Amino acid sequence: MSGQTQTTTTQQTEKSLVFAVNGERFELSEVNPSTTLLEFLRSQTSFKSVKLGCGEGGCGACVVLLSKYDAVLDKVEDFTVSSCLTLLCSVNGCSVTTAEGVGNSKNGFHPIQERFSGFHASQCGYCTPGMCVSLYSALVNADKTNRPEPRPGFSKLTVSEAEKSISGNLCRCTGYRPIADACKTFAADVDMEDLGFNYFWKKGESDEVKLSRLPPYTHNNATCMFPEFLKMEIKAGFNLASEGCHWYSPVSLEQLQSLLQMVEVNDGTSTKIVVGNTGMGYYKELVHHKNYIDLRYIPELSIIRKEQTGIEIGASVTISKAIEALKEENKGGLNQEGKLVFEKLANHMERIATGFVRNSASIGGNLIMAQRKHFPSDIATILLSVDSMVDILTGQRHETITLEEFLGRPPLIFKSVLLGIKIPYWRSSRDLSSKTYTKLVYETYRGAPRPIGNALPYLNAAFLAEVSLCKNSAGVMLNNCRFAFGAYGTKHSIRARKVEEFLSAKLLNDSVLYEAIKLLEITVIPEDGTSSPAFRSSLAVGFLFEFLSPLINNSADISSFLCNGYNSALQFNDSKIKQNFDQFDQTKFSTLLSSAKQVIQLNEEYHPVGEPITKVGATLQASGEAVYVDDIPSPRNCLHGAFIYSTEPLARVKGIKFKPESSLDGVTTVISFKDIPGENVGAWTMFGTEPLYADELTQCAGQRIALVVANTQKNADMAANLAVIDYDKKDLEPILSVEEAFERCSFFDVPPYLYPEQVGDFSKGMAEADHQILSAEVKLGSQYYFYMETQTALAVPDEDNCMIVYSSSQCPEFAHETIAKCLGVPGHNVRVITRRVGGGFGGKAIKAMPVSTSCAVAAYKLQRPVRMYVNRKTDMIMAGGRHPMKITYSVGFKTNGKITALKLDILIDAGMSVDVSPIMPHNMLSSLKKYDWGALAFDIKLCKTNRPSRSAMRAPGEVQASFVAEALIEHVASTLALEVDSVRSINLHKYDSLELFFKTSAGEPLEYTLPSIWDKLALSSSFYQRTETVKEFNRCNQWKKRGISRVPIVHEVLLRATPGKVSILHDGSIVVEVGGIELGQGLWTKVKQMTAYALSLIQCGATEELLEKVRVIQADTLSLIQGGLTAGSTTSESSCESIRLCCNILVDRLTALKERLVEQMGSIKWETLILQAYQNSVNLSASSLYVPDFSSMKYLNYGAAVSEVEVNLLTGQTTTLQTDIIYDCGQSLNPAVDLGQIEGAFVQGIGFFMLEEYPTNSNGLVVAEGTWTYKIPTVDTIPKKFNVEILNSGHHKHRILSSKASGEPPLTLAVSVHCAIRAAIKEARQQLHSWGGIDESNSTFQLEVPATMPVVKELCGLDSVQRFLQWTIGSK
Ligand SMILES: Cc1cc2nc3c(=O)[nH]c(=O)nc-3n(C[C@H](O)[C@H](O)[C@H](O)COP(=O)(O)OP(=O)(O)OC[C@H]3O[C@@H](n4cnc5c(N)ncnc54)[C@H](O)[C@@H]3O)c2cc1C
Ligand code: FES
Ligand code: FES
Repeated sequence: MSGQTQTTTTQQTEKSLVFAVNGERFELSEVNPSTTLLEFLRSQTSFKSVKLGCGEGGCGACVVLLSKYDAVLDKVEDFTVSSCLTLLCSVNGCSVTTAEGVGNSKNGFHPIQERFSGFHASQCGYCTPGMCVSLYSALVNADKTNRPEPRPGFSKLTVSEAEKSISGNLCRCTGYRPIADACKTFAADVDMEDLGFNYFWKKGESDEVKLSRLPPYTHNNATCMFPEFLKMEIKAGFNLASEGCHWYSPVSLEQLQSLLQMVEVNDGTSTKIVVGNTGMGYYKELVHHKNYIDLRYIPELSIIRKEQTGIEIGASVTISKAIEALKEENKGGLNQEGKLVFEKLANHMERIATGFVRNSASIGGNLIMAQRKHFPSDIATILLSVDSMVDILTGQRHETITLEEFLGRPPLIFKSVLLGIKIPYWRSSRDLSSKTYTKLVYETYRGAPRPIGNALPYLNAAFLAEVSLCKNSAGVMLNNCRFAFGAYGTKHSIRARKVEEFLSAKLLNDSVLYEAIKLLEITVIPEDGTSSPAFRSSLAVGFLFEFLSPLINNSADISSFLCNGYNSALQFNDSKIKQNFDQFDQTKFSTLLSSAKQVIQLNEEYHPVGEPITKVGATLQASGEAVYVDDIPSPRNCLHGAFIYSTEPLARVKGIKFKPESSLDGVTTVISFKDIPGENVGAWTMFGTEPLYADELTQCAGQRIALVVANTQKNADMAANLAVIDYDKKDLEPILSVEEAFERCSFFDVPPYLYPEQVGDFSKGMAEADHQILSAEVKLGSQYYFYMETQTALAVPDEDNCMIVYSSSQCPEFAHETIAKCLGVPGHNVRVITRRVGGGFGGKAIKAMPVSTSCAVAAYKLQRPVRMYVNRKTDMIMAGGRHPMKITYSVGFKTNGKITALKLDILIDAGMSVDVSPIMPHNMLSSLKKYDWGALAFDIKLCKTNRPSRSAMRAPGEVQASFVAEALIEHVASTLALEVDSVRSINLHKYDSLELFFKTSAGEPLEYTLPSIWDKLALSSSFYQRTETVKEFNRCNQWKKRGISRVPIVHEVLLRATPGKVSILHDGSIVVEVGGIELGQGLWTKVKQMTAYALSLIQCGATEELLEKVRVIQADTLSLIQGGLTAGSTTSESSCESIRLCCNILVDRLTALKERLVEQMGSIKWETLILQAYQNSVNLSASSLYVPDFSSMKYLNYGAAVSEVEVNLLTGQTTTLQTDIIYDCGQSLNPAVDLGQIEGAFVQGIGFFMLEEYPTNSNGLVVAEGTWTYKIPTVDTIPKKFNVEILNSGHHKHRILSSKASGEPPLTLAVSVHCAIRAAIKEARQQLHSWGGIDESNSTFQLEVPATMPVVKELCGLDSVQRFLQWTIGSK
């Protein structure tokens, strides 16, 4: 904001904006009208719980509850909105509730926040406030309904509503299961038995006891009080917004017309009409608008009017309100068919965006975006299918035209306003005299990466048809029909007129359907440049087939349906027809998590280590009071930075300009490599460095070239967007693929000590083989971290050339060194502080350094504080992410599937700088060695390319290798026509081979738990029975196929030296510092437990009390040095060990005194002991550096997973029906934390294997720029049944209190889902082969990663419907 906003609590003036936030009154005059509610809350108030995750309505981190008071009805409406899209001026007269307002540490937490904590539903915590507000809103609204009073302690919410309340909120850490459970605790219909592992109760306790242990919930907890003062002001006649703000809220059409006239005369371009402003989520605004015209107060635009012929909906009506109205209509006196249409329209609308977007997004705004900008709208398609009309006002001209005409017209001019739409009532034109039974059938479709919304569709469709049963032929006739399609890469939704005409008055049969489909194929053709065009066209075919084919077969049943006049085609009572429809029924999948089980054996040996205590600070995270870097209030004079990055992969940078005529509001300076006082280093690792800014040469698209520094983050971002770089590419040939790198010998070195050793003799192994596969190829792409908190830092200059930097970093020590180098100052001039990180996953290790260094350089130069919160787009472009690679393998094997030799040639794309890429060969090989390959040979090259440097991402190299291992096992199995599972089993290591492959890491024979996990999992998941059931399912179902797969993992980890420091204060409270950073992985929680355990050995008072006394504090690189890197899954345990060493020192120092005091006093309390120690000058601060023993610093982790999936062959959509995991945690330090790691990592792995495409353009510039295109898992894409068992494998001599790691290994288990998809596709292909669709049954095929809908559909046959119909017609 430009500093014009004033917050006062004085009396309202003529030109002010008044609203409340958490009950506090705000009155502002002179607001920049483009200010969003989020910007205001975060920069002008103390309420920081609204987090900026995406800025485009796609993540839910910024959700607030908005309450509106209707003075006439004396009624308050409460609903969620995304504060990142809501304009501040539009909340005039509203009450805003943020997570702090729901509950907080001062006034008491809300049971939602406490239950989130107790159900271990918050890890990094960045998503948690938004989640809590979403659930809170659902509670508030459910409890307002007149549903029957729920049982005491529960709300009126249902389980399904509770789950769905957070379905639009993203979480990258937890895997959603615990969040869903925490939500369900409030549901009236919940079975307490179904609620997962939590802190409140123990297994086996009765429901009453369980309920009594939950933080109590009463109806009052869901009462959102609208501030009385605001009610009074509203009643007194509110001055709606002010002209001083350039925000106009006309209250009549006449006012609107004159405003538009006035604006047109002045300057049309700088004025914007708004309703919900959610369009800004898609069409980012690169310029500020001066004036806004808010349409929400014009009565004609807000009406919902039911007339004889249809329903009229004003353009400003929100999608949520429209859904309500359509559902309401459904209850009324409409005929069955009319009801069906409205019900389907409402159901479809419920899958548009998310609740918090639909609550402010208007129907009119959506249609205008579709009309003017070709937005891939759902609303346009579904309304088109039902012959909707639209009302437009242009100047004084009023027009009512069909939606079809509206969409087809040239883009509406600025002064045209959409007034509303009209949806006609539908009923069939039943001709009773002819005794023909006529029926209206209606269905809508949506093919999208996420089943219940929050994802734009690849294609949507809606079909309306009047069908009748022919008197003589017992077949079905299509009297007339409307087929609408949209969002497939077309300018606007269309009616498939040719198909409609062809089918009209036709008797339906396979041949007719086939012909119709042929016509459709030439109708639905995406425009050039649309992704997956053939897939989108095939979806159209699939949907039409899904709609019409049930009307073809079973004519007798159809006749009974038509005669009996059931509600809808999809609600037939007849079982046979129902089965037919069920084959396709997507809505059956719309239930979210159906069940989950957690099996945990607790261990009391080292109490309270081993206890599943809740995460430190979880309630603070839930209330939004936990402070992340961007929540630290800006120091005075603070400036903000934004990166200008290269869009060319290799070019000389000749200069940077800004687009002509761009007004660079608030820009202070632009900083480039020339401004760096010391070395041009942005990041360093033990393997090399990366420049902070490109010097003369830019080496990848996405490389930092400069930093724009401005007075606000928004101005800095806008200016960076307007930068134009002058490049010279003459004679420069970038390397953009590993193949090119190989040709040009462009490699990074791997230090010999990091290069793994070959195992056995490959040639001999090949010679022993009965069969060989030679030179098969697999390719893997990248993955983006998608931490909810993007990269961020704040640098504050201090006296004497010193610099304090707050950084969201996994390795402050490295950042510290980089900053010192870059500033050219000694290390002791720099201090890097990290309290908590809003998700890291490897991305905040090396990649966070340039952000803190850039802030430091700018702050140093300007001698002013400089902060930066990198926007999601820039973050995605620069992140680099996981290493893409190409693998070529040759494998030899026996006829029984036993592999005798494997050779791999691996080309890894490391990008432009070395980062930590030299660890990749080791990581890959150690994960690959989960099977006994007989002999193992390999050649791994780290390719230096002109792409952003790749960094470690959770399970770096290991997840790719786990995939490669399974891909080639499946290749072997299909070559031999063996069951894949038997090939896996036969190649599992015996202890001897494990030792041969892993040497000392293999540990003791008893520690090799994989074989027992393998068998145990088969039993616990009923693997063999389910394999048979899957076969049966596949035999019985044509358009759905299932696959099931069991995979093992062996995951090697390495302990590193880690420092710690424990200090006991005067009152006996304890302060702990560790090298490790709290990223959400529960490191602080484990450390706290370890401190209490180790200090309890002094035996003074209860251990629980000690636990309460411990506080782990932020990492500070001057307070504790050698902090190292928080990565590799072992930092929690090594931090714990360093703390144990400190505590041992303290216990040693205190023992003599304690014994003396016990002798004198009989017993002694902890506080007394410490007081005495102070008086006796005992040193009560101890630090240590834990250095792991070389011989046991590496060890293996084991686990296995069974996943079962179902693939819809018409759409390519995959549903993970069930996953069962057993994972060995040794003696878990905290099973709740480890469970969270296992589930969260697994779901992140699902993202890698199923959803997350991270594409680039031909220059290597990332083109997935945010939540619109990058799809991480949501609660509707996780396994429907999710069972996890943490195996307590007992004593492990060399492990820290016998514990093992859990952070990364479970991610690699997600390959089980990919393997199951492959199995399902194999079935589909066999069927396709039987229809003559592919040449051979072709069981050998590559299933890419990620196996997205288009990928799966393509392998199942883009033309499977056509093939099937040809086959059916042929066989008749
Ligand atoms: C995260 C997210 C996901 C989404 N997913 C989907 C989806 O899956 N399917 C789908 O169909 N849509 C989707 N949408 C789009 C959403 O439906 C629209 O953004 C919304 O309906 C626009 O309404 P609004 O009131 O916010 O419009 P605004 O943003 O206020 O306005 C949008 C545009 O229309 C103009 N305008 C608004 N009303 C009028 C009027 N009456 N007359 C003339 N001009 C007008 C404005 O000037 C502006 O140019 C999604 C949106 C978001 C943010
Ligand atoms: S930040 Fe608003 S929805 Fe993501
Ligand atoms: S806890 Fe949800 S994003 Fe980290």
